[in-house]
Amino acid sequence: MSDETRPSRTAAVIPAAGRGVRLGPGAPKALRALNGTPMLIHAVRAMAASRSVSLVVVVAPPDEASSAEVKTLLADHALPERTDFVVVPGGESRQESVKLGLDALPPGIDVVLVHDAARPLVPVDTVDAVIEAVREGAPAVVPALPLADTVKQVEESRADGGPELVVATPERARLRAVQTPQGFDRGTLVRAHETVTDNVTDDASMVEQLGEPVVVVPGHEEAFKVTRPLDLVLAEAVLARRRANDGF
Ligand code: C5P
Repeated sequence: MSDETRPSRTAAVIPAAGRGVRLGPGAPKALRALNGTPMLIHAVRAMAASRSVSLVVVVAPPDEASSAEVKTLLADHALPERTDFVVVPGGESRQESVKLGLDALPPGIDVVLVHDAARPLVPVDTVDAVIEAVREGAPAVVPALPLADTVKQVEESRADGGPELVVATPERARLRAVQTPQGFDRGTLVRAHETVTDNVTDDASMVEQLGEPVVVVPGHEEAFKVTRPLDLVLAEAVLARRRANDGF
């Protein structure tokens, strides 16, 4: 088949190797339950809900026991049959974990989503909008929302522990809070991970550093990141609302 006629195949990489210390003591964050189901399973289902996603690669905490636990979890929960699932051990940083997930992708995948296990409730329409924008030619796509809060930039932390000094107030209307899944042309993302060594907090910023364009599609309020204890309460409320609305 020529490049134009070959169908595009999409995989999702889910870095789930973080400890989630901000949530307080307990199991690794991705394995915490939301309404009785581990957050990671919600995140995996959110990716597999897209008919375009044919493979989900879960990056587990690096120790053997965690990888085994994640494999058992995937086997024990109902997941769509049309989707393949692979588990690989993660690394010290999120970046390293994503790289290890990319290394596990088979040939034939040309669109890659990277999705935080910590965003278990992203709706399928958001996932599909990201994939669509990559298929239409964007090398990198991020779902994002405008900010409610005004954001201040402060000086680098002071050695004397004194109050932080505000150095700038970026124009709020031009700021976006970026979520996941972020979507990429596979070759571009692999090149970014081979080239950029700075510490980053998302994958799209690595593509920015290559000088390639990154475009925004509308994010969703339910794609928030479960970071602090109050986020667990909010996530369970969202699930209860879904159940009440459509018997989810
Ligand atoms: O720490 P943060 O909330 O930014 O983590 C975002 C995502 O990256 C989480 O899903 C977490 O499990 C994952 N992560 C990882 N490997 C690490 C650190 C974080 O897969 N070493």
